[in-house]
Amino acid sequence: MRILSGIQPTGILHIGNYLGAIKQWIELQKSNGLDKEAGCIFIVVDLHAITIDYDPKQMQNNILSAAMDYLAAGVDPKKSIIFVQSHVKEHSELAWLLETITPMGELERMTQYKEKSRQHEENINAGLFSYPVLMAADILLYKATIVPVGDDQTQHVELTREIVRKFNNKFGQLFPEPKTQLQKAGARIMSLADPSQKMSKSIPQGCIYLNDSAEQIREKIKTAVTDSGKEVKFDEENKPAISNLLVIYHLFSGKPIEEIEKQYEGKGYGDFKKELAEVVVEGLKEFQEKRKQFEDNPELVKKILAQGAKKAQKIASETIDEVKTKMGLI
Ligand code: ADP
Ligand code: TRP
Repeated sequence: MRILSGIQPTGILHIGNYLGAIKQWIELQKSNGLDKEAGCIFIVVDLHAITIDYDPKQMQNNILSAAMDYLAAGVDPKKSIIFVQSHVKEHSELAWLLETITPMGELERMTQYKEKSRQHEENINAGLFSYPVLMAADILLYKATIVPVGDDQTQHVELTREIVRKFNNKFGQLFPEPKTQLQKAGARIMSLADPSQKMSKSIPQGCIYLNDSAEQIREKIKTAVTDSGKEVKFDEENKPAISNLLVIYHLFSGKPIEEIEKQYEGKGYGDFKKELAEVVVEGLKEFQEKRKQFEDNPELVKKILAQGAKKAQKIASETIDEVKTKMGLI
């Protein structure tokens, strides 16, 4: 079993990224945590981040910041490989090789591509289009079998599986088919401002960022939209806003949803929100403290990333040799 995931260094992470993706990584790291063979691989996917407009002057900062987020959340370089995608050139190389067997029609169907081309009409570049193939390359270079991500990435992992089948059929068995692993609850944390939209970096309103102060968190939860009625009850269809807040409460506190519902029986949304704010503040405390330590020591983070890239490269270059051999290129 090899676990692999990544997040783009496109800005400050929010609790959706944390609860939907990173929290699972840490749990998997615990259970699968590692033998020397690198059971877990976590990548700062900078090559993906440049498919939308960005400020080159900010990029190094963003990359380092994402790495600090991973480490502060609990990614342990002794148990997992953590590195920056562009530091291992085999990612781009395999992406090209796989592009030659990926049908255009499949890429045209990708929801994220459609959404992003709507959001960035002025910059619909070929990289944005072939983005899922680069993601497939990330996964396949390490022959990963489990990909813990939020639910919006399922389609990309499905495409990766299809690429695997095509490759293995055409050139001979090489890659395993990776599986998506979704968090049971939290695969889709919704915006606090609009519970019909997922919480997303691209919509700052309704986002709780991992570095928000206690005051900011309290304010954001206080002003979060709620549903009609006043019962604190999980009912995604009729009470999408409260259900979302209940999931957040559950994931930060570890309490089952039914228990939280009981706790607020006969009380209103106000009490619930007030206490939820404290649960989130408390839930982010350790992360924020650890994050500060890494911020004070960027050199350490750079060293960890350099060591990670070295380990990753060793595996990646072996896979590239196998791929090129199968494809008749060497
Ligand atoms: P964003 O949409 O904020 O730009 P990314 O696309 O960079 O986030 O996603 C990084 C990871 O976090 C992915 O695994 C994604 O599935 C997960 N993720 C993003 N938003 C959410 C959310 N609202 N709920 C759960 N998981 C999420
Ligand atoms: N496409 C993912 C996202 O937008 C990020 C990503 C890139 C990724 N490469 C990956 C996730 C490999 C899992 C595995 O969130």
